[in-house]
Amino acid sequence: MEQYAIKGGNPLVGDVEIAGAKNAALPIFAAAAMTDETVYIDNIPDVRDIDVMLDAMRSIGVVVKRISRHRVMINGGNIHNVTVESDGCKKIRGSYYFLGAFLGKYKGAEVVLPGGCDIGSRGIDQHLKGFRALGAEVIIEHGLVKARTKCLRGSHIYMDKVSVGATINVMLAATLAEGMTIIENCAKEPHVVDVASFLNSCGANIKGAGTDVIRIRGVARLHGTDYTIIPDQIEAGTFMFAAAVTKGDVTVKNVIPKHLESITAKLLEIGCEVEEADDCIRVVATKAPMHTQVRTLPYPGFPTDMQPQITVALALAGGTSIVTESIFENRFRYVDELVRMGADIKVEGGDTAIITGVEKYTGASISVPDLRGGAALVIAALAAEGFSVVDDIKYIERGYEDFPSKLQGLGAQIEVAETDKDVQKFKLKVG
Ligand code: EPZ
Repeated sequence: MEQYAIKGGNPLVGDVEIAGAKNAALPIFAAAAMTDETVYIDNIPDVRDIDVMLDAMRSIGVVVKRISRHRVMINGGNIHNVTVESDGCKKIRGSYYFLGAFLGKYKGAEVVLPGGCDIGSRGIDQHLKGFRALGAEVIIEHGLVKARTKCLRGSHIYMDKVSVGATINVMLAATLAEGMTIIENCAKEPHVVDVASFLNSCGANIKGAGTDVIRIRGVARLHGTDYTIIPDQIEAGTFMFAAAVTKGDVTVKNVIPKHLESITAKLLEIGCEVEEADDCIRVVATKAPMHTQVRTLPYPGFPTDMQPQITVALALAGGTSIVTESIFENRFRYVDELVRMGADIKVEGGDTAIITGVEKYTGASISVPDLRGGAALVIAALAAEGFSVVDDIKYIERGYEDFPSKLQGLGAQIEVAETDKDVQKFKLKVG
């Protein structure tokens, strides 16, 4: 089983190139299968969830050609099956986007109930409510969500909860519905806007993405396009916080600074210097972070996907900090591991972490509980005194491209180790 062997203590210094956004790419792949024409998509991240999604598409007859590491060609002209139920799809969240995409295109779809990181119960009621409002019959049977209709008609839908997935899924279906759909209380995340921009580049008529209200005038069909996915704001934010935690100096390149505003604001608040240019941001930390309070919120609030990373920084701050998770109910599973590295954190009521800053982390053997918690624990290990071994790195590989080598490029002492012998070799090498 692969692990990361890490020797902490080096400030991370240098430039790092940020990949395309996983959470934009997944729905854009499903959207690409909504046209019979050929679509080219650029800046796709080379991460595991992407491979799973593309394999699922191949299994139902979509032609998928990886032209290069970050560019793919997709043709959905010969789809022979609208049932998507591969084992891989059970494990990722993005597979549910086939529901909206195929409901729009074929007026029916069957998709295995989605998985994804274990960060709490992750309902799909708002997706189903949206599909039903468009005229679909939806049932859950034998582990599949089955949606079907004779005719998909535009509708006025009010989302009871701000949901990235539901906003995108209903937008996908409504793109090929008859007439006008208005979705209120939408998620405003950059990837929601990116999916709308992609669909519009294929001939859809979507207005208002990035605001609370999205208006979609249904079109009869979509055509091919050549589209570039936005940079991953969470990967960028993770490296920005890695600079803060290791007292480093890191420039994240190929980013859209506007998408990172809430992250930048918190870094300034905890005492980092942040310099912004057109498509890069430099974060410099020369001292321990200052304490603060954070509440995760839908965009443009502070992202839940950055909650573990900021907690890792605040656990080294002078004084007491409070982090409140308001999106998912079980997103502090990494805290037990952080405590093993010396952090002083109490989680109350499942959604609030009360953090008393400590001076340092000490290396330990730790297990990754989920994608973002895992990345945050690696950052802690990079700041820690001594060696750490990080298990279950498969979760990190779901969403971070070349994580260890990008960190090495910033001076981190981290290696992928397959056996205990490899770990011992690493220890001898780095001393
Ligand atoms: C997306 O998940 C992302 N995943 C998550 O990223 C991210 O944390 C999340 O959005 C919030 O930004 C993908 O894009 C694949 P939601 P999603 O629907 O769409 C509740 C990562 O680390 N809800 O916005 O599943 C839900 O339970 C991952 O990359 C309902 O109650 O998130 C949650 O509490 C982890 N009913 C809240 O809304 C619904 O029908 C927000 O969920 C839908 C959601």
